[in-house]
Amino acid sequence: MATNDSKVWFITGISRGLGRELAKAVLARGGGVVGTTRDGKSDLAAPAGALHVLPLELTDAERIPQVVKQAHALHGRLDVVVNNAGYGLLGAIEEATAEEARHVFDVNFFGPLHVVQAALPFLRAQRRGHIVNITSIAGLAPMAGSGLYAAAKCALEGLSLSLAQEVAPLGLKVTLVEPGAFRTDFLSQHSRRETRGHIEDYATTAGAVVQYLGKISGKQLGDPALGAKAIVDAVMTEAPPLQLVLGTDALRRTRERMGILGSELDRWEAVTKSTDLTGPEAAGALRPA
Ligand SMILES: NC(=O)c1ccc[n+]([C@@H]2O[C@H](COP(=O)([O-])OP(=O)(O)OC[C@H]3O[C@@H](n4cnc5c(N)ncnc54)[C@H](OP(=O)(O)O)[C@@H]3O)[C@@H](O)[C@H]2O)c1
Repeated sequence: MATNDSKVWFITGISRGLGRELAKAVLARGGGVVGTTRDGKSDLAAPAGALHVLPLELTDAERIPQVVKQAHALHGRLDVVVNNAGYGLLGAIEEATAEEARHVFDVNFFGPLHVVQAALPFLRAQRRGHIVNITSIAGLAPMAGSGLYAAAKCALEGLSLSLAQEVAPLGLKVTLVEPGAFRTDFLSQHSRRETRGHIEDYATTAGAVVQYLGKISGKQLGDPALGAKAIVDAVMTEAPPLQLVLGTDALRRTRERMGILGSELDRWEAVTKSTDLTGPEAAGALRPA
């Protein structure tokens, strides 16, 4: 049973990978875990009452509020809510069917959105709680070959950055976790999906990246146990980060993207500023803070 001074974590997708390591790390520190897997089973070892596993398929939007309600009822509170479960869709944007695009958004964006919306009434009532959304370096610095996955993760980034501002006055925290390549099943045939379509014109862009990602599967630099430790440590600090980039590859890509954005802002600054009203109309213009 989670004690009063240990936190209760709700984590989606604890069957494998980062979610499993996160559940292990929380349990090892004496916290409580209510985790979800698709079949409702887990072989994780835990002290009696510390681990509860609920079945959840993230595309089942109607079930999400019931699962979150059940999770809250188990300990009478939820301290940390982690949207972890997800998968990557590989292939060029033009190669994806509408169904493939919708599915990657259902799992990586709408599932987390429904979890957040279902958890918020409990967290607001508590005036305490922390939402952790696992996005990806793809949500900060997208590459060719996973554009729709990146789009879903970018959407979750935008949602979380807004949400953080909406819930801060209510005593709630939000953290985005942006991992680089971690050695989980993520890039393996077990987890990744590829677009059914194939267009030869993309062989040297998206196609090359998809091939490269296949090659690094099982050879990624990121250690999921250390990733989980970093997330738990960050949540436990007095002032948790709004965005937590994990892995040197993710750090490099983020800095590159920021550099490109910075130099484009500088280069195009005059054009950027040229679209403001001038003259008497400018005096009455209201500017967002
Ligand atoms: N590993 C990386 O390199 C990396 C990099 C950036 C971001 N991420 C993000 O990190 C998170 C965890 O990924 P991972 O590396 O741990 O991958 P993983 O080893 O493939 O594990 C994915 C987890 O998500 C669950 N899941 C997938 N689709 C689901 C669905 N429709 N409904 C319910 N659960 C579903 C899986 O459940 P099943 O076992 O039932 O399939 C599994 O528990 C994901 O959000 C991913 O986008 C990972």
